[in-house]
Amino acid sequence: MTITCNKTNFKKGKTQMYICICHAITEKDIQQAVGKGASSIARLSELTMLGTQCGYCTKHAHEVLNQCANKPA
Ligand code: FES
Repeated sequence: MTITCNKTNFKKGKTQMYICICHAITEKDIQQAVGKGASSIARLSELTMLGTQCGYCTKHAHEVLNQCANKPA
């Protein structure tokens, strides 16, 4: 089971996809962590705390990680 929700960023008027509810980690946070060299859920957890509480987010985070890895630089 993956828990996700959308929350509007009122400052920028953009919608953010929250991947980890427990630690308020967004898809953009994951993309930034990948930019800093995260290539696994373990490394992502070290950088962001993602998945370190209930763990429901790790499956979806893995999908986001794969999407980032498949994007051309
Ligand atoms: S949703 Fe990520 S640790 Fe709970």
